Amino acid sequence: MIKLSPSILSADFANLQRDIAIAVDAGAEYVHVDCMDGHFVPNLTIGAPVVKALRKATDATLDVHLMISNPDQYLDDFIKAGSDIITVHYEANGDTLAQVRKIKEAGVRACVSIKPGTPADVLLPLLPELDMVLIMTVEPGFGGQGYIDACTDKIRTIRKAIDENGYKCELEIDGGAKLTNTPDIVAAGANVIVAGSAVFGGDIEANVKGFKKIFDEY
Ligand code: DX5
Ligand code: ZN
Repeated sequence: MIKLSPSILSADFANLQRDIAIAVDAGAEYVHVDCMDGHFVPNLTIGAPVVKALRKATDATLDVHLMISNPDQYLDDFIKAGSDIITVHYEANGDTLAQVRKIKEAGVRACVSIKPGTPADVLLPLLPELDMVLIMTVEPGFGGQGYIDACTDKIRTIRKAIDENGYKCELEIDGGAKLTNTPDIVAAGANVIVAGSAVFGGDIEANVKGFKKIFDEY
């Protein structure tokens, strides 16, 4: 099943509950929450207190993407806040596998992400333990950037490894997904599509339905 994870980075921050409800009611499966520390990436967004507030505002699956240098310092906070899925970056500090195990032991789904410059191969040894992998298809930090075509091969590599080994691991992509390029992204093997500006820019309900219509064809 192909799923949509709208990134609230492009939502109205003064009306997150409203914008999330519109996206979820229109059929979005997950809600993607971009947490940035101003150090791992050159932007500062939201932290665990906001995730905690969102937890009270929606029953939707909170897909929390940590673009932070020191996950070990904050994992407990994001777990306690009520995240359903927590993504740590392979490039962040600390032992990625230990972070994955800590997340899973807390009953939260674990995901590892790689930036565009990091080869897909680094994920292969982690795949058996992961609930999801996240291939960044833009440089993390900002919404509204263009999809980096060179990342599509990494989607194919990871899809092949998941299928050949029968791993129960979702394959998410993040950055630059539009209605126009999503068919190719899905064909390459992604099954969770993050979309920020393409969902929250304009008519949220119509945008979500546009993605869902493409997914229905697969
Ligand atoms: C970028 C974030 C993305 C971003 C996607 O660092 O991780 O989730 O919001 O935005 P769009 O879909 O506009 O590229
Ligand atoms: Zn993200």
